[in-house]
Amino acid sequence: SSGADEYNEERDFVLKMRNAGKNVVIFYGSQTGTAEDFATRLAKELQSAAVRPLVLDPELYDFHGMAALNEDELAVLILATTGEGEPTDNMEQWYDAFVSNRESPEESEVPEFREPEDKAGMLDMEQPLADVRFAVFGLGNNTYEQFNSHARIMDSRLQALGAQRIGERGEGDDDVDIEEDFAQWKDKTLPLIRAMFGSATPDEDAGGAPALTWTVTETGGSDAWTAGQLYASAEAFDARHPFQAPVKAAAELTPGADRHVLHVEVDLAGSGMRYEAGDHIGVYAQNSDEEVDLLLAALGLLDRADQAISVAAADPHAAQQALFPHVTTYRAALRHYLEIALPVPRAQIKSLVLPFATSAAARDFLGPLANDKDAHAQKVGAGCLSLARLLNAVHAAERTAGETDLLMLPPAAVFELCPRMQPRFYSISSSARVAPETPSITAVVLQYEAAAGPADAKLGLTRSGVATNFLLGVKRYLQGDRAVSLPDGVLVSENAALPTHDASGAPVVADNKGHVLGSYTIHPPVDRQLALPVYIRKSQFRLPTDPAVPIIMIGPGTGLAPMRGFVQERAHQARANPESAQGTALLFFGARTAVHDYMYEDELARLFDDIRTVAPQSQVITAFSRDQANKIYVQHRLAEHADAVFEALLAGQDKLTGPPRAHIYVCGDAKAMAKDVTRALAALIADKAGVPVDTAAQWLAEMRKASRYQEDVWS
Ligand code: 2AM
Repeated sequence: SSGADEYNEERDFVLKMRNAGKNVVIFYGSQTGTAEDFATRLAKELQSAAVRPLVLDPELYDFHGMAALNEDELAVLILATTGEGEPTDNMEQWYDAFVSNRESPEESEVPEFREPEDKAGMLDMEQPLADVRFAVFGLGNNTYEQFNSHARIMDSRLQALGAQRIGERGEGDDDVDIEEDFAQWKDKTLPLIRAMFGSATPDEDAGGAPALTWTVTETGGSDAWTAGQLYASAEAFDARHPFQAPVKAAAELTPGADRHVLHVEVDLAGSGMRYEAGDHIGVYAQNSDEEVDLLLAALGLLDRADQAISVAAADPHAAQQALFPHVTTYRAALRHYLEIALPVPRAQIKSLVLPFATSAAARDFLGPLANDKDAHAQKVGAGCLSLARLLNAVHAAERTAGETDLLMLPPAAVFELCPRMQPRFYSISSSARVAPETPSITAVVLQYEAAAGPADAKLGLTRSGVATNFLLGVKRYLQGDRAVSLPDGVLVSENAALPTHDASGAPVVADNKGHVLGSYTIHPPVDRQLALPVYIRKSQFRLPTDPAVPIIMIGPGTGLAPMRGFVQERAHQARANPESAQGTALLFFGARTAVHDYMYEDELARLFDDIRTVAPQSQVITAFSRDQANKIYVQHRLAEHADAVFEALLAGQDKLTGPPRAHIYVCGDAKAMAKDVTRALAALIADKAGVPVDTAAQWLAEMRKASRYQEDVWS
């Protein structure tokens, strides 16, 4: 506990604002960095003599400050919704304080608006926020059940406490075009905010280079900078202070498949970090050499790539004074610290690229991308034009027009434009009972063809997911594949070799107790070691504490990941307590083909043998979609196995009179699969219980509310 009742000057944001001469505070609830990025951009756009914004992370400040805001001050909240309608980690304290709905972690799944409660001495007054003005923009994704619930709930809560909202609540939808939603909300809200402070609307066509947030100073010579210095050591490890975890194993699970599926184990020994099956692990990746070099070249920095630089805030009152924790180099900044592979948002082209275009050719090329939503979506969005590829396309257009003075973006503009590198989260695919210090990741490597792009730019259109391709590089490096560029600077001592051979001589991987984990194909013995910056993020996706409760797991593709952890755990319990019966475990796994895509096949077979000694009805039910002419998916198998599913759910009850016995888990694609699965479950329950589908769907919805039907899904 941070001791919410004790006053701590450091955590007083109103004091901080007033000391810095600011009158607008912008808080971001950010998980993947988008909300933080929007907050920073909003501040920049609002900045004028009369409107003086300050961007802050709510985690570092006390919520009490809200009540101290005056009528001539404003709080702006940029709030992302995560998981199943939850606030972001950095908003959790504030959310709990204002909304106060968390009686137990189990019940926090579906946040509901509650009446004011006495919380830490502030919310006991009737209208404690009567003088407070705020604006709010939410970031969400409509493929999830609780669309934008974080922003919605905070909004209604603040109003219930007397605060007055300026303008409408904005709701961004990441499934459609969140950048555009943000732009539209700003168009409506910024004039209201400016009016509140008596500030004029800035002249859009004022022209000239924009004032930049950062100043870049080249410091003496090139430095002996190493990636090992990246993350300062810490007492406790979290998003800001990841732990450098040695990679214990890295292998391809389905070597014959047309996609790479990776299994990576990291070692948490010495970190003090704990995890449970169902948690997520955050991994900091590195941008690829290809993308880094493309960008360095497009900026004309290739020959100064290893020049040491420091990057400081232009505004002496800015909350963040240095962009990077220490002196870095151009190359290291682009490789480790910034997201450089994302398509450049329209607003950023408009405010940070177009203003630096001097040639007519560059302006003609960039103008439509900055001002026309559809042109931007078609070229930059569908073409996945990263900053490097966008600049190359501009340069190609300039060359075609006979220009020799090509658009040169200053590094400070690049550092402002590219969001900070974010960790990627993976559902941990192991059980802490079996592998207490070596959680594993199961991930499919993202490689795809961009749908479209400017043909004239002559750019390869293959695009790659940053983090999964980095992990593929890690695997290849550990296997001594020199054809792959080395992730720099993180080499540590020798690895304890895990690959071994089973009785028949086939290569297998065993844990440190000799228990065979699976028959992965590992090439030459691992003789190198790497460390990955990681941290554990707790989730609500949990096995029932009582092993007698049946579990129904649906995890096609890499949605198998958390289910593997659950299955390992149940098998471990079965071995440890052979006398005590367990609830049935049903695992529905789907993949393309049985031959090439059945990851962890042997291991799952062994684990289920163990489980069946105490839960005889348990089984894996597979759906291989491409092994026959018609598609067979997990939801089709659910329907076929309706009896087993219904039995596990209700155990002999033939009506939906009592609560369910089982827990249901779904992991994988949010858009189609998770919804199809819900429908299939409702249909089979309706059929078996002899009730209307609506009644069955309602019953499932109740299960969800009680956290007995849990999803770990992504889109
Ligand atoms: P497909 O690619 O052959 O269509 C893991 O990715 C598995 O999920 C694949 O077999 C894939 O099949 C399948 N899949 C695709 N769409 C699905 C959906 N709507 N519901 C369930 N499984 C789906």
